[in-house]
Amino acid sequence: MQRLVLAKRPTRQLTQEHFRLEEVAPPGPQDGALLLYPRFMSVDPYMRTRMQPEGYGYISHWMSGSVLSGYALAEVMDSRLPGWSRGDWAVGHLPMQEWVAHDGHGLRRAPAGTPPLAWLHPLGMTGFTAWLGMQLLGKPSPADCVLVGAAAGAVGSIAAQLARKAGARVIVTAGREDKRAWLRSIGFDHVLDHRAADFSEQLRHTTPEGLTLDFETIGGSAFAAAIDAMRSGGRVVVCGLVSQYQQEAPRRAPHNMARLGERGVAVIPFVAPHFERHFETFLDEMSPLVTSGRLHWRLDTMQGGLEAIPGALIGLFDGDNLGKRIVAL
Ligand SMILES: NC(=O)c1ccc[n+]([C@@H]2O[C@H](COP(=O)([O-])OP(=O)(O)OC[C@H]3O[C@@H](n4cnc5c(N)ncnc54)[C@H](OP(=O)(O)O)[C@@H]3O)[C@@H](O)[C@H]2O)c1
Repeated sequence: MQRLVLAKRPTRQLTQEHFRLEEVAPPGPQDGALLLYPRFMSVDPYMRTRMQPEGYGYISHWMSGSVLSGYALAEVMDSRLPGWSRGDWAVGHLPMQEWVAHDGHGLRRAPAGTPPLAWLHPLGMTGFTAWLGMQLLGKPSPADCVLVGAAAGAVGSIAAQLARKAGARVIVTAGREDKRAWLRSIGFDHVLDHRAADFSEQLRHTTPEGLTLDFETIGGSAFAAAIDAMRSGGRVVVCGLVSQYQQEAPRRAPHNMARLGERGVAVIPFVAPHFERHFETFLDEMSPLVTSGRLHWRLDTMQGGLEAIPGALIGLFDGDNLGKRIVAL
């Protein structure tokens, strides 16, 4: 069987040369274990941060020769583990390889009643991140004017809808016209382009009274524009800085960060793995939104198996996804 390995660490732009497919012997059925075949693999911007030589200590780093891994929806092909049956759908963090022997630890079964693929997005890590950053930490209310960047992407699209549901005025951004058209089609009225040279002016024009909550996903010049637009006493939830992940200093603060102190803006950085204890509460709140169809969620599914994963990941940093990117194996 094949598995996907990091061939060498990137220092700047990720390219196909940083990946390698390896041929190894497949695992067979084992007592006390599940034999899984991953059918869909999530690709996410944080995977690039796992290739950094330092920082991002909440997750293990990938080095040259590391087998890549990610959240996956896998089919149970054989079960010698009580409570699991052949044909179940299992969700968990799995190595990027064709067959996986697994002791079941950390796996969830995608239950009947929700589409299994929802467990890779609105009910999975990206939905959880959006819920944590917006609902638990950002706490939007009808008094808020909220900015959500990269809102046609996985986390942003869910976070923006949660802010709207809480009654806030929501400004969303996306870097391509078809993405902005999708955001308008699901009911957002204030849709801007964070890649535009005049984004800062667009923002000030749309919200002359200023932002009270920035859900930051992009970093760089988009973050600097959001800081300029913050109202006194507001808050910034730092979810991610995706535009910086391929730079030598991926966590550098924007040049105008000090303004936040002058204006008494609270800065709230977070990483989802530190909040695992809230996962059941998240599911209780998010599942009804998914099953009732009240939440818009969109998958960007690439075909081509393990071989397609490098291109799918690289593409995230060019913004070529609309919705949550996954790869079918
Ligand atoms: N804190 C946590 O625990 C946690 C967990 C998951 C994700 N995150 C963060 O949440 C953010 C979104 O992640 P996601 O999984 O939902 O990805 P995503 O939004 O589905 O895909 C990434 C998007 O980022 C934008 N982007 C990429 N490179 C850019 C650049 N150089 N300049 C401007 N925009 C760029 C693109 O959107 P446009 O085409 O619209 O520009 C791209 O489509 C990331 O910062 C990620 O690290 C944080």
